[in-house]
Amino acid sequence: MSSTTTDAFEHRFHQAAQRHERAWVFISVVMIAVLFIAAVYLVVHDYGVVAKTAHIYADPNTPATLADFQGSGVKQTGPNSYNVYEMGRIWSWTPGTGTPLTLPAGAHVTFYVTSGDVLHGFEIQGTSINLTAIPGVVGHVSYTFDKPGTYYIICNEYCGAGHQAMIGKIVITGRAQA
Ligand code: CUA
Repeated sequence: MSSTTTDAFEHRFHQAAQRHERAWVFISVVMIAVLFIAAVYLVVHDYGVVAKTAHIYADPNTPATLADFQGSGVKQTGPNSYNVYEMGRIWSWTPGTGTPLTLPAGAHVTFYVTSGDVLHGFEIQGTSINLTAIPGVVGHVSYTFDKPGTYYIICNEYCGAGHQAMIGKIVITGRAQA
């Protein structure tokens, strides 16, 4: 009699343990699935497999449009003032070294900078210009180049295998005659 009671107890115990195990196996599988989906989403969304940049241009307060970033990169806005538009993508700046930005010394220049995929660091060597290019956000900074010469845009935020290839070129010519 006592042996059957023990058997019944053990049977119930094993059944409960199995339910417990099944529950935890299920929870583990769900967690793996959620992490997998999150990883795929991050790769697709944040690493530019599908770059969603269009929404930044719908913002009425955004001081730059998609068309601005698709032009030559330089827009004269006054007698001695210019806007410059730079888009970072893995792994180049647009405009890049192939199409140097040409600006006169002494001009008031406002740089508008964004990213089409991941974070990039927009730095112009030899100047104080250093801002982060953020997907979905247009940052801006104003600067006046006092000395003619060649300046290079680099990327100072590690963004992958071709990070060091992200270079742009700015040619500052002599002062425009007032
Ligand atoms: Cu872009 Cu480093």
